[in-house]
Amino acid sequence: MAIELAPSILSANFARLGDDAKAALDGGGALLHVDVMDGHFVPNITIGPLVVASLRKTLPHAILDCHLMIENPDDYIPAFAEAGASWISVHQEACLHLYRTLQLIESHGCKAGVVLNPATPVHTLDEVLDMVHHVLVMSVNPGFGGQQFIPGALRKIRTLVEVREALELTFRIAIDGGVSQDTVGEIVRAGAEILIAGNAIFGKGDIRENAKKLLEAARSATLTRA
Ligand code: DX5
Ligand code: ZN
Repeated sequence: MAIELAPSILSANFARLGDDAKAALDGGGALLHVDVMDGHFVPNITIGPLVVASLRKTLPHAILDCHLMIENPDDYIPAFAEAGASWISVHQEACLHLYRTLQLIESHGCKAGVVLNPATPVHTLDEVLDMVHHVLVMSVNPGFGGQQFIPGALRKIRTLVEVREALELTFRIAIDGGVSQDTVGEIVRAGAEILIAGNAIFGKGDIRENAKKLLEAARSATLTRA
């Protein structure tokens, strides 16, 4: 499957969000990753449906990937879909009725994804892998950008690749947290396809160039994939 870069706007300058987002897409970002935090599921507060609606207005054709790090996601899925989300992912740990929540996302016309915290094993998703568009492996504790990559995530990616092959499924594998020039090679070689990166793209320097170079590093690592 193709390697795609998903710039995470969490590290963008929110006073010029449209321009930062455009620069990241220009640099090769295939979609925009939007981190939604409620101050309960994670210790930080970020973006609501209003910001998604503004992004949708400014970037009518962009894929907007909303990563919900919130409690009671069912209460907000309709609002994010209405605001223009393309993909919506929810945390396994936040969903008492994960199956129902994934159905709810699909019923609103969005691609459904499921996310695993660093401490949550892959096998907790066994019963839903055939109904998700993507599985997102967190490689940091969710809540903040700019943290260090947790290497155990690589094992989870490898397990997902094996399970997908064994069960002949088609979900895509995404990774979120600490993706940088230093880590992207081993991440891609483990089998991740959607690379979510915040700080490495928006942190410092030229956004467009940062995205371009990270994508180049990721693609060249596929040539040496085991
Ligand atoms: C963290 C978020 C990430 C975050 C990643 O909770 O889910 O999407 O933006 O940031 P970096 O790439 O800086 O680790
Ligand atoms: Zn995220």
